[in-house]
Amino acid sequence: MADPKEYDITIIGGGPGGYVAALRAAQLGAKVALVEKDKLGGTCLNRGCIPTKAMVRSVEALHEAKHAADFGVDLKGFDLNFGRLMARKNEVVATQVAGIERLMKGNKIDVYNGAGKLESPRSVAVNGEKITTKKVVLATGSVPARVPVPGLDLPGVVTSDEILDITKVPASLVVIGGGVIGMEFGSIFNGLGSKVTIVEMLPQILPPVDEEIVRRYGQLLRAQGIEVNISATVKAVEKKGESLEVTYEMAKGQSRIEAEMVLVAVGRSPYTEGLGLADVGVTMNRRAIAVNERLETNLDGVYAIGDAIGGIMLAHVASYEGEIAVENALGASRTVDYRVVPNCIFTAPEMAGVGMTEKEVKEKGITYKASRFPFSALGRAHAMGDTTGIVKLLCEAESGKVLGVHIIGPHATDLIAEGAAVMQMGGTAKDIAHTIHAHPTLPEAMHEAALGQLDGALHVLKI
Ligand code: NAI
Repeated sequence: MADPKEYDITIIGGGPGGYVAALRAAQLGAKVALVEKDKLGGTCLNRGCIPTKAMVRSVEALHEAKHAADFGVDLKGFDLNFGRLMARKNEVVATQVAGIERLMKGNKIDVYNGAGKLESPRSVAVNGEKITTKKVVLATGSVPARVPVPGLDLPGVVTSDEILDITKVPASLVVIGGGVIGMEFGSIFNGLGSKVTIVEMLPQILPPVDEEIVRRYGQLLRAQGIEVNISATVKAVEKKGESLEVTYEMAKGQSRIEAEMVLVAVGRSPYTEGLGLADVGVTMNRRAIAVNERLETNLDGVYAIGDAIGGIMLAHVASYEGEIAVENALGASRTVDYRVVPNCIFTAPEMAGVGMTEKEVKEKGITYKASRFPFSALGRAHAMGDTTGIVKLLCEAESGKVLGVHIIGPHATDLIAEGAAVMQMGGTAKDIAHTIHAHPTLPEAMHEAALGQLDGALHVLKI
């Protein structure tokens, strides 16, 4: 082994958890090593959030072309160029990866390209080199989960990683799992012209989303031609001629459906293989690394964050945890607080939520008031030609304190930030109602929903 390199903090994993942790640690003056075996940016940037959002934008462009005449734009003809769509997606990713590389260099963070292995709480091995370090942050993320269903290894059966490299739009796609990944890809490929069928084991798709929002989304899915089978467990995938046949079981018995491609989106598992955790004695919580509320593992000076610790597997949660872990590693004493975590789903239309769902509020026995405001009553939404959906506000009845905000409709994923900010400050419906919201903008729907908690919204008639 070469001479040991010495650092204040060594971070294993360069996704939105790890690289943000590295930046924060450097900002606080630490000497930082970041170990990444693949490209910087992790799943989010290379195989998740960003490439899929680039694809969503292309689907929107196609939708706009199809409906251009409604807006007074007569096109002479247009075509989907899937090769260009995928190339653009790759360009977007490459630009962002290069951006993170620049950030690392600019912050004097040493990036080691290789698989890191924890040899002791104070040393990490990578590419035959030994790094000695005062603190370690484990941020190795997650991989698509596997389920023991026969046939998932057949050609044409893909994970959320592999579907990002396909070269042609499948005529038909069965999606196993109606979670966020399944619904987002279902929405993308439906928009690109595939016949999409979702097969979900539970009685509801998108389990963590407010039930009323999911109900509204379900109605729109039918209109879009996406078929959804709930309470349906996939039992097998078999080759049938040129197609794949998916067998699933419902209360009424077994059904079969054929498709050109099958996407398996049944969750993600923490990825900790080859990290040497068992050898150094890191306590696990099944596949996830066990941590306390300061994000410390059982080993002194070793922290873990992001998908690798299970919990809420979201890029922005991993980044939040990354900041907390390195601050603690450098002497602070911050604890995690997951009460205000915005959840964004980039389907058509978009959905987003923060705080408690109505079901959770009821289960807690809180006396509450729900108010809703439809985008169809908003001038800006009409001007945009997109009036689908609502903003729904849940507030404590007596105090008006905001308990949850749930949105389905145009730019829901951007609009949720106001709800998150108000909740973070412990704000009330009155705080939102007394804030001047610019006209004509979509956030006026939030303002009106807040007025609905008080004397009533202004731009809808009380029935
Ligand atoms: P998920 O856990 O959200 O959904 C998986 C679904 O598959 C569940 O509803 C489950 O009941 C179903 N399922 C499991 N086995 C099945 C079977 N044999 N037959 C039929 N259905 C079956 O997991 P998903 O969608 O794979 O996402 C993984 C993680 O990535 C989640 O934590 C999610 O939050 C995160 N993610 C977040 C995004 C966002 O915030 N926009 C986008 C993509 C992923």
